Amino acid sequence: MKAIAIKDDIYWVGAIDWQRRDFHGYTISPHGTTYNAYLVKDEKITLFDTAPAAFAGELLCRIAQVCDPKSIDYIVANHGEMDHSGALPELVDRIRPEKVFCSPMAAKSLAAHYDVANWPLTVVDLKAPLSLGARHVHFVETRMLHWPDSMVSYIPEDKLLISQDAFGQNIACAQRFADEIDEGLLRSQAARYYANIVLPYSPVTLKAIEGIEKMDLDIDMIAPDHGVLWRGASDVAKIITWYKEFALQKPTNKAVIVYDTMWKSTEAMAQAVASGLDDAGMAVRIMALKANHRSDVMEEVLNAGAVLIGSPTHNNGILPPVAAMLTYMKGLKPKNKIGAAFGSYGWSGESTKIIGEALEDMGFETIPGVKCQFVPKQDTLAACVELGRKVGAALAAKLTA
Ligand code: FEO
Repeated sequence: MKAIAIKDDIYWVGAIDWQRRDFHGYTISPHGTTYNAYLVKDEKITLFDTAPAAFAGELLCRIAQVCDPKSIDYIVANHGEMDHSGALPELVDRIRPEKVFCSPMAAKSLAAHYDVANWPLTVVDLKAPLSLGARHVHFVETRMLHWPDSMVSYIPEDKLLISQDAFGQNIACAQRFADEIDEGLLRSQAARYYANIVLPYSPVTLKAIEGIEKMDLDIDMIAPDHGVLWRGASDVAKIITWYKEFALQKPTNKAVIVYDTMWKSTEAMAQAVASGLDDAGMAVRIMALKANHRSDVMEEVLNAGAVLIGSPTHNNGILPPVAAMLTYMKGLKPKNKIGAAFGSYGWSGESTKIIGEALEDMGFETIPGVKCQFVPKQDTLAACVELGRKVGAALAAKLTA
């Protein structure tokens, strides 16, 4: 596939990873991803970001459609993570650029990744723009969005914000712009990406958006480092609005029930809890961990008002998939949720306590759960229905408060 002109003399020259499915525990489903890189042809020919090491060849081929790679003067590394910097050693070696620009923190992270002794590594001036000739690049640090070294690059002459990981989505497709693909797919993939990568940094995200708005930057294109680009005022406003919504994590009347089961007792309890939530007018999603990856769950948890987690007691603990789910969820720091635990047991029955404590540890407002010895009979199922109703009533009260 060809390099794509995104503005006059500015080209997408990135790589498409059609087959990628795992991103450090986050399952990309089913769309793969792109590692976007952008080439600006000005007096100083400048490449913004690269790709993983294995994609250096694809990147160089695409660059070669636009210019001789050796004519590149500057490379800007907006972030040190290897999906954007892995190809740097080969590119620096082949291109021998005059400068490799990065943030103050990326000077450290790149040095910790690669042998940079012979690189022309240069920390950007955050106060004065970098002249490329007709264009000027303003660098803005976005620390912890999502690494300490993250920064974005803004080119006012083109009204272009190269936003690095922010505003990205993991979608591998032939199209390069958001307005060329289905909006439902786009929103779900942007939400999935946010829920699984950006969520812990929501306060920083809101501050960064506020900062961009205060600076009153004139932006008519946001070019992230993953997925499709947002062009035109309407799509730029759309993704910023979505991000604010994702970051605020305002609860909705959605309740997500997540569970694993040994002999289907906990599964029967999950169904009964769902029935109670339904009685209370909540929109229920039931997600068995045998059928749903933890990243599918997080996509649903993002705007849920309640999360109910079930596991049988197993070896005085909880089933490993539930433990993994809780560990993953805790790291992503979801906010504004009501939580409850449920589960069956044989003789010791620790699972609801363990889950309940984990939910409290995450700051959830918890409601006492239900446990059941071996197989739930009518009384236990009724208690599960009641649990669903209680959680539903608490969520309804929260939504109207
Ligand atoms: Fe897409 Fe943080 O790298």
